Amino acid sequence: MANKLKQGTRCTICKSKGQNNKAVVYLPHHRLALCKPHYIEWFEKRTQKTIKEFKMFKPDEKILVAVSGGKDSLALWNALTKLGYEADGFYIDLGIGEYSEESKQLSIDFANRIGRKLHIVPMKEKIAPIPTIKESTKRPACSACGTVKRYYMNKIAKDLGYSVIATGHNLDDEVATLFGNTLGWDINYLKRQYPVLEEENGFVRKVKPLCKITEKESALYSFFNDIEYIEYECPFSEGASSIEYKELWSKIEEQSPGSKLRFYSEFLKKMHPILNTENEKIGHSEIKKCLICGEPSYNDICSVCKLKEKVKSKTAKA
Ligand code: AMP
Ligand code: FES
Ligand code: ZN
Ligand code: ZN
Repeated sequence: MANKLKQGTRCTICKSKGQNNKAVVYLPHHRLALCKPHYIEWFEKRTQKTIKEFKMFKPDEKILVAVSGGKDSLALWNALTKLGYEADGFYIDLGIGEYSEESKQLSIDFANRIGRKLHIVPMKEKIAPIPTIKESTKRPACSACGTVKRYYMNKIAKDLGYSVIATGHNLDDEVATLFGNTLGWDINYLKRQYPVLEEENGFVRKVKPLCKITEKESALYSFFNDIEYIEYECPFSEGASSIEYKELWSKIEEQSPGSKLRFYSEFLKKMHPILNTENEKIGHSEIKKCLICGEPSYNDICSVCKLKEKVKSKTAKA
């Protein structure tokens, strides 16, 4: 079969059951043509299979889904809820103008639709909005943003008694990150690139149940479920290398369907165990407790407390 859906193709699963429904989507690397209900079922089963494969969480665990208002995290929240998990949402209001306003509203609307709790953490009350942090620190917005996201995700999950944080990272995200880390042979990051990061030293377990699902697949799942999500990227993401890597990998995938999945899955199967056993000492650094806030940190003072200090001294001068 070609890469695209040919007119008149029947759903593979319907056909196997002696039914004759038309397919609306073709997944070349899985060699599957599916009708809408079977696509939704396929997506949820694949998510469930990934959860089991990597022992992400048990059916009775309280899960906190990190929700950005984008297609992936909302699709994940929907799928987990449909699969019967107890999953609440967590949204960090980064204070990035219209982008944050819209994504927050879409997250609130979705939480109401599925009848689950959404915890909102406003950055302007915790430290300052991301554009102010960017100005004060002279660091790229995305790096400060990543730091505060990781910190508050972990702290809020602990404070509210959730045992696991689920993020919407998809296969395209993981491939772009893996590719970037491989280009620099960044052992420390490669060692930690895994769909499950176990709970340790003050860090709550973090999981990525969509790591084997592509961006297109999660967009389609959201579309078929009438999930409204923010369709544009954060304004600070323009020119990010991860976007360039994603474009490059789309071309590779187009030429050779299944390449993304192969690159990522084979890394997990073959390279990740080597990095984490035989060369255990490579890139090993100890986790301490931040002397100011008590949260886990690789240094005496954690990156968020350092950010807070910088913002405070800048705004005091102004
Ligand atoms: P990104 O780093 O923007 O690609 O997002 C990756 C994942 O991080 C998303 O799928 C969400 O699970 C989570 N995330 C991103 N932005 C937020 C946010 N503002 N609040 C909570 N979680 C977020
Ligand atoms: Fe954090 Fe764009 S979402 S800087
Ligand atoms: Zn079907
Ligand atoms: Zn701290």
